[in-house]
Amino acid sequence: MAKPTGSRPSAVPDMRTGHDLMSVLPLTAQIKDDRLWIGGVDTVELAAEAGTAVYVMDEATIREQLQEYVKWTTYHWKDVDVVYAGKAFMSLAMVKLVAEEGCCLDVSSGGELAYARSAGFPMERVYVHGNNKTPEELAECLDAGVGRIVVDSFEEMDRVSAMAVERGVVQRVLIRVTPGITADTHDYIMTGAEDSKFGFGFNQGLAMHAVKRAVELPGIDFEGLHMHIGSQIFALQSFAKAIEVMVAFMREIKSEAGVPVRLLDTGGGLGIKYGLPDEPSTIKEYGKVVVDDIKEECEKHGLPVPRMAVEPGRSVVANAGVTLYTVGSIKEIPGIRTYVAVDGGMSDNIRTSLYGAHYEALIANKADRPREMTATVAGKHCESGDIVVSDGPLQCPEVGDILCVCATGAYCQSLSNNYNKQVRPGVVFVADGKWRWVVRRESYEDLLRNECG
Ligand code: LLP
Repeated sequence: MAKPTGSRPSAVPDMRTGHDLMSVLPLTAQIKDDRLWIGGVDTVELAAEAGTAVYVMDEATIREQLQEYVKWTTYHWKDVDVVYAGKAFMSLAMVKLVAEEGCCLDVSSGGELAYARSAGFPMERVYVHGNNKTPEELAECLDAGVGRIVVDSFEEMDRVSAMAVERGVVQRVLIRVTPGITADTHDYIMTGAEDSKFGFGFNQGLAMHAVKRAVELPGIDFEGLHMHIGSQIFALQSFAKAIEVMVAFMREIKSEAGVPVRLLDTGGGLGIKYGLPDEPSTIKEYGKVVVDDIKEECEKHGLPVPRMAVEPGRSVVANAGVTLYTVGSIKEIPGIRTYVAVDGGMSDNIRTSLYGAHYEALIANKADRPREMTATVAGKHCESGDIVVSDGPLQCPEVGDILCVCATGAYCQSLSNNYNKQVRPGVVFVADGKWRWVVRRESYEDLLRNECG
């Protein structure tokens, strides 16, 4: 089975050209005159105009992915919320796009809620997550009138109840359950196992206890359950196993607490194609497994089918994005490897150093040529582990070339940082032959803004 962090490209020249990389690039990618175009925009010209490093995101791909989720979940059941997980990539333009597509939004901090409010996102379509929402964040959520709070602990439940009573409102909540399923993914992004900081497990009847408490507490409307078993998951059986456990729990809730589960949220986690050998499931396959399994399990237990929610993040934005860098220097160590250094690195893409992730790269101004060498794309930071692509195939690079790393639309900008006081790249959206800034590149003034001397 391919590695969930993205399969390692062969550590030899694979002679593939940009044409062979279409499956990891945005849907609108094209090669024209030896150059990579995205959204009808020549990326080499874009790099010259906008500067590098820069994240480039294709609006059409993001919309298409959201529409696929809506299509293939509601195809099987009438009531499914597609909740975009904002942590994968969030900007005001992105939040507005999610609203335009009629989807819901998962926020997991006061800051993400502030983005949703600032973008004018309909608050009733907001799901709030986090294993330690602060009292201030909870107050912000109640004051904003968010649709659902996914409750992670007893302390939080009591706080939500008290705050709702104080305000004379009733807050809909979901209880986050860890179904004890080990998903096939990297340990750091696996969340559904019993030993997890998230949610309530079944050990010692904790999850049932949480549900009963939610039913009893004033100011709280217990609407249903939430699970999230992990991220970059290839094996759809992991979802099926977890759903089986959750629906069995729904039946117990009915008999022991006497209430129905009106909403079952199965979280996010669908894997994407980072490396050419990766073979993730499609959204169509995922929709069928998740929705049909919930229906079948409910039928088996004699339960009414609840409203459903899915929370995709990565699979909406990852392949919509690329990062463009300029090659600054090339260091060939004979018999060892060639380092191609770019004007970014672990500050704009920490996934390689953090998870051992693998990315496909190409030279955007030589996109029609074969990747005839093996190179390690290194960043500009003061750390040997500052690698973006380790030993991947690449066209022969020269200083000044525009190097494109594919599938960087998820968890790159959102995990970016200012290590070495590096300014973070901006984000541009491309669509219909035009590009526009959606997040400006940081300036030194931005870096110094909060300094108090
Ligand atoms: N819902 C909840 C409650 C989550 O915690 C997450 C992701 C999602 C939905 C969306 O999952 P997705 O569809 O994106 O897999 N930084 C890591 C990924 C961490 C995922 C955190 N939670 C990475 O770069 O791989």
